[in-house]
Amino acid sequence: MYRIASIGGDGIGPEIILEGKKVLDAAGERFNFDVQWTDFDIGADRYLKTGTLLTETDLKELSAFPAIYFGAIGDERVKPGILEKGILLSLRFYFDQYINLRPIRLLEGVTTPLAGKRPEDIDFIVVRENTEDFYVGIGSRFKKQQKIELLINRELYNVKFGLDVESDAEEIAYQIGVITREGARRVIDYSFDLAERRKKKLTSVDKANVLSDIYGLWRDVLIERASGHPGVTTEFNFVDAITMWFVKNPEWFDVVVTPNMFGDIITDLGAMIQGGLGLAPGGNINPEGTSMFEPIHGSAPKYKGLGVANPMATIWAGSMLLDHIGEHEAAAAIVSAIEKCILSGDVTKDMGGILGTSGVGDAIAEIIIKA
Ligand code: IPM
Ligand code: MN
Repeated sequence: MYRIASIGGDGIGPEIILEGKKVLDAAGERFNFDVQWTDFDIGADRYLKTGTLLTETDLKELSAFPAIYFGAIGDERVKPGILEKGILLSLRFYFDQYINLRPIRLLEGVTTPLAGKRPEDIDFIVVRENTEDFYVGIGSRFKKQQKIELLINRELYNVKFGLDVESDAEEIAYQIGVITREGARRVIDYSFDLAERRKKKLTSVDKANVLSDIYGLWRDVLIERASGHPGVTTEFNFVDAITMWFVKNPEWFDVVVTPNMFGDIITDLGAMIQGGLGLAPGGNINPEGTSMFEPIHGSAPKYKGLGVANPMATIWAGSMLLDHIGEHEAAAAIVSAIEKCILSGDVTKDMGGILGTSGVGDAIAEIIIKA
């Protein structure tokens, strides 16, 4: 028996999570385990009603679960950034989910915009660092004549930052990225371990040629840790170049590790080459704590409540959740059921089919139970 938390969130989030739970329950029936779900009412509606994003009680309760199944957040009634930072990023940071695992895999039957590429050519995994870099929230924005002497004095890993700025520019803004040796080490080690279990190739993506302090440290750590993995081929790519190679030669890649912001950007590109955001899952992992699994697409508010959203990315994220808690066979069965559904045309409109959200969930659940 597993106790799992679920957060439907905003827009299409609740609908797709419903289908994800349906499929995970079916997998439990087939592989003899039970999932006990606890739903949390977190998102735009509650924020608009009560003004709370995440409460201490939410966090305390959520921390009792090994995993959270997360739909999506984002709502037109709320200014961009509030829900993203106040809920999604806060959960990632609070639970120290320092691994953001994003498989880029072309399933059988899916059309990729990359001419001539087949499922065997597109099968790699991006490990995005998930708690540092330009996501740490240190920055400021101010206008001329405003006198700001100490802009930053924030504790982060027990380090105090200080910065004096004098400027007569009309308006100025800055944002600071931070990487710590330990923060880089833990995600890089995770990636080497993953590469050891796959095709033994690790590609690091950075911009050490320009942002040489922050990504210079990243690179140093990578080179140091590589010496413990002589069987893994290690290579470095700059982030601008990687966007070319993902498109031209996706078959080169096995495990790709990268700091937070570049990871955000290149995984949308990855999602597109694997058939679109409707098929892109992600896992926010703390190997020792509460992890969180979600589709990487957003809340698509204009489709809310219409029953047309493609639940496949969410269902695939559910498979990653099961893999994470040790149900490897069930996890693999879910991905293969998604693949079968696609091959038989049981898909939503975005993939050329006629089924609705729950039709796809039903079809996948049925394949799993009958297998
Ligand atoms: C993602 C999203 C988030 C991110 C946003 C919604 C905060 O784009 O999960 O990739 O930037 O990490
Ligand atoms: Mn993103």
